[in-house]
Amino acid sequence: MIALPNLLLVGGGRMGSALLAGWREQGLSQAVVVDPSEAARALAGDGVTVVASADEIPAGFAPAAVVLAVKPQNAGAVLPAYGRFGGRAVFISIMAGKTVAGIGALLGGGAIVRAMPNTPAAVRQGVTVAYAGEGVSAAQRGLAETLLGATGAVAWVEEEALLDPVTAISGGGPAYVFLLTELMEQAGLALGLPGELAKMMARQTVIGSAALMAASSETPEALRVAVTSPGGTTAEALKVLRADDAWPKNFLDAMKAATERSHALSG
Ligand SMILES: NC(=O)c1ccc[n+]([C@@H]2O[C@H](COP(=O)([O-])OP(=O)(O)OC[C@H]3O[C@@H](n4cnc5c(N)ncnc54)[C@H](OP(=O)(O)O)[C@@H]3O)[C@@H](O)[C@H]2O)c1
Repeated sequence: MIALPNLLLVGGGRMGSALLAGWREQGLSQAVVVDPSEAARALAGDGVTVVASADEIPAGFAPAAVVLAVKPQNAGAVLPAYGRFGGRAVFISIMAGKTVAGIGALLGGGAIVRAMPNTPAAVRQGVTVAYAGEGVSAAQRGLAETLLGATGAVAWVEEEALLDPVTAISGGGPAYVFLLTELMEQAGLALGLPGELAKMMARQTVIGSAALMAASSETPEALRVAVTSPGGTTAEALKVLRADDAWPKNFLDAMKAATERSHALSG
């Protein structure tokens, strides 16, 4: 295992602490976490120092990457204090909707990678899609890929605007899967199944299907076809779901709405 370089994590909340946990597994040598919350103190130990503000970062600490994991609404107040690391470090932002230009304006420039993770990062099953701004070197891009990859898969886009549909599909994606689970449970209840049974069946069907997909080399389409005997019960349900193209069309409309919302919120 190659030791990671010195890292500075700004914001040790849900996403920040998921990243830190992944880095620990990857061979973290030294990191400073800046987070004023009491809960963040628990992140200290094994080479990790936790401080409450940028002023308390040990003098001379020279991170190779500064990971920005505070809420987007706090960016304006928080980021300017970190511009001083920009000569050497790559900035990696996971703040939703904060553009490279907007982040650069707050930091006073620097090499900036903008990334969109999703919540399965908490169990190292996330997917993060990243965009590298101008001036990010190949080595910095490689470091960003290693750090973001600590919580799951990483992919890159070469156009920043594509982070809007990424936000719609993988950023919000877990919510759609959870909604499907809820709908399966509610339908089970409506069809007379006991509440606990409906809940367990819906949950385990989604977990089991995801695990099957992960273990299989088949496409989702092939896995779906394998469950669907012609003229059988699943075929009957899919016929209703896809009648007049309603479900696919509705889903595409939903993704368009989320993409537009992401664009409107960006800055
Ligand atoms: N969760 C997601 O699905 C998801 C997906 C993609 C991207 N993101 C992005 O990830 C970022 C973090 O989200 P999260 O869910 O991890 O939020 P979170 O749990 O609220 O974490 C943010 C942390 O930053 C701390 N903080 C507040 N002010 C600070 C300051 N001045 N300096 C350093 N830290 C400060 C907060 O402390 P307090 O609690 O005391 O305020 C909190 O611990 C957001 O920008 C979000 O857009 C999240």
